Amino acid sequence: MRRNSICCLVFSVALIAAFFTGQAQVPDNENFYVTHGPYLQNAGTTGVTVVWTTNRPAIPGVKVTAPDGSSFFVRNSTDGIVNGGSLVHKVRIDGLDPGSKYKYSISSVQVLKYQAYRVYYGDTLNRKAEDFTTYPFKKDNISFLVVNDIHDNAAKLSSCLRNGFPLEKDLVFFNGDMVDFLQDPEQLFKGFIDSAVYYFASAKPFYYVRGNHETRGYLARELKGYFDYPGDRFYYSFDYGTVHFTVLDCGEDKPDNNRYYYGLADYDSYRSEQLRWLKEEVESENWRKARFRIVFIHMPVIREEKQGYGMKYLSENFGPLLDKAGADLMISAHTHRNAFLEKGKSGFSYPVIVNSNNTFLEVFAGEDDIMAALRDVNGKQISEYVVKARK
Ligand SMILES: [Fe+2]
Repeated sequence: MRRNSICCLVFSVALIAAFFTGQAQVPDNENFYVTHGPYLQNAGTTGVTVVWTTNRPAIPGVKVTAPDGSSFFVRNSTDGIVNGGSLVHKVRIDGLDPGSKYKYSISSVQVLKYQAYRVYYGDTLNRKAEDFTTYPFKKDNISFLVVNDIHDNAAKLSSCLRNGFPLEKDLVFFNGDMVDFLQDPEQLFKGFIDSAVYYFASAKPFYYVRGNHETRGYLARELKGYFDYPGDRFYYSFDYGTVHFTVLDCGEDKPDNNRYYYGLADYDSYRSEQLRWLKEEVESENWRKARFRIVFIHMPVIREEKQGYGMKYLSENFGPLLDKAGADLMISAHTHRNAFLEKGKSGFSYPVIVNSNNTFLEVFAGEDDIMAALRDVNGKQISEYVVKARK
């Protein structure tokens, strides 16, 4: 059992509230079933989080089978109470061995009635087993895909994924603006999660970098409930193979007092808090010792004459820090135009690849260099960029 964060608890309470108020929306004669997923999140050398949803409230669990055939069953709990009773299910699995192939199958026990002194259970759904491999401690060559600015166009995403062969890659990044705004959970599923599950996400995790559009609409407040982030933050770092990945959250593009935010934006203080974290991050041993340091951020951190408020803030505050700390490559999105800004031309000592809304990146990182192929939605290569390792 594992304790989740306070945010998860708040989210669970909200969903339990939805359970009591929203049940009538499901017709009585509808069977109990899994509506979306499972998809993997927050993976590492010893753990992974499995997420899925059901059409009726349930108690979730996951059966894990190790390479030697032994198996165990995982349920999570928060403050002594087993997680469950909602429609969205997140189960964290820890204590796995690095670089090992496991099987997992999700289990959902329907909750018919949840009372103080009596809980009535309905059907139990056990789904077929899926494969998942924990990250290895060491790997000389890795590969990953990058897609961004899909703006709910699941057909376009499907085309990128069909031609990007995500199951053959180590990682997949969705670099922001995957949806236009967030008002209803179905936007997340129809917009991109269902396509991701169809092509790879039950077997490989994806990293969902927050773009400025993911901050818009009421559901933006509950975004973390559908995913799992290291440290429960949208900015974090992790290591895989020869690369230290630093993922940043650009925030909104306009000043906090813009009238379209209706007094609900507080990105200046959020970005300063993130900057404090970034100062510690670039001093960390993992950053300093990494063969390559790749920074993911939805809005590019570059120097340009005319910049909107958000990009200017990033350029003035995040740029010099990453420059001095020796970032090797930044991978960005947002502008809907492809660009490769070499060292210096970005205004900083690191090169920046900006992927458009009509292309995807296939990246290979080894010991000596990083090679990024820019491909159109049909998989046709448009250009290729190479970043050599620091001397
Ligand atoms: Fe954007």
